[in-house]
Amino acid sequence: MSVSSAIGVFDSGVGGLSVLHHIRQTLPHERLIYVADSGHVPYGDKPPAYIEQRSHTLTRFLIEQGADAIVIACNTATAAAVASLRSQFNIPVVGMEPAVKPAVAATKNGVVGVLATVGTLESARFAALLERYGEEVEIVTQGCPGLVEQVELGELDSARTRALVERYTAPLLARGADTLILGCTHYPFLAPLIRAVAGNDIALIDTGAAVARQLQRRIQAELPERQTGDASVQFFTSGDAAQATRIMSVLWDANTQARQLPRESM
Ligand code: DGL
Repeated sequence: MSVSSAIGVFDSGVGGLSVLHHIRQTLPHERLIYVADSGHVPYGDKPPAYIEQRSHTLTRFLIEQGADAIVIACNTATAAAVASLRSQFNIPVVGMEPAVKPAVAATKNGVVGVLATVGTLESARFAALLERYGEEVEIVTQGCPGLVEQVELGELDSARTRALVERYTAPLLARGADTLILGCTHYPFLAPLIRAVAGNDIALIDTGAAVARQLQRRIQAELPERQTGDASVQFFTSGDAAQATRIMSVLWDANTQARQLPRESM
C-alpha cells in the first residue's frame, strides 16, 4: 500500500494546534501528522541540547510516517533545534519565532511587549531578532513560567490561569505596550483571557498564519511534483493518550483521537 506524502508538525504539547489550524486552512488537502511531546512538556525551562535531541527524535518519527516537510510549531524548539534539523534532514523544515517584525509595524505608540518562554527569550535567535528590530521601538520581554502547563491542562480561563496572565501582562502594560506578541504557540489559546485582562484595544500578534504561508511557499518551490495527501489529520503524543485526546477534543475537534508514540520515540 502506498502512503501519501504528509506534513509533519510537532510541538512540546498541544500549543502547536494553534499553528495546525492555519495549516489546515491554507493547505486543506494535505495529510497532516501532529505530535504533541507532552511527555516532555514544558520545553521552556529545559536545556537547548535536550530540546534538540527531542526534536530530532520526533522528526525521524514523522519522516517514517511519510512526512516530506516538517513544521516546528514551537518557538522554543525552533530556537534550540532548527539549524541542526536543517543540517541533518534534507527536506523543508519550517520554524517559527516571535512576530517581532509585524509587531513593530503594528504598534502605534512604539512600545511592544513579548510574552514567551524563558528558553525562547534567552536564545541567540531571539537576541538577533531584538538587535534587528529593537532600535526602532521599545521592546519589553516577559517570560511566562507555568502558562504552558495551564493550557496543557485545558485550563484556558481558570482562576490560576487568570492570575498568571495578570502577573505576566502587568509589567508590559505598565510600560505602556499597545501591542503584545504571543511568542509561544500555546498562548493564542489564551487570547480571550489576555484580552479580558489587558483590554480590547490591545493588539495581539502571533505567527501561525505566517508559518502556514511560508510552508505553502516552500512546498511549491521545493516539492513541485508532489501529490497532495488525503486531507486526514493524525495525532500522536508522548504523554498520556487519554489525556491528550481529552484536551485535543477541546482545542481541535470533538472527534479527535490521540495515539501514543511508539516506545523508541518516547
Ligand atoms: N509551544 C512552545 C513554544 O512555542 C513551547 C512551550 C513549552 O513547552 O515551554 O514556545
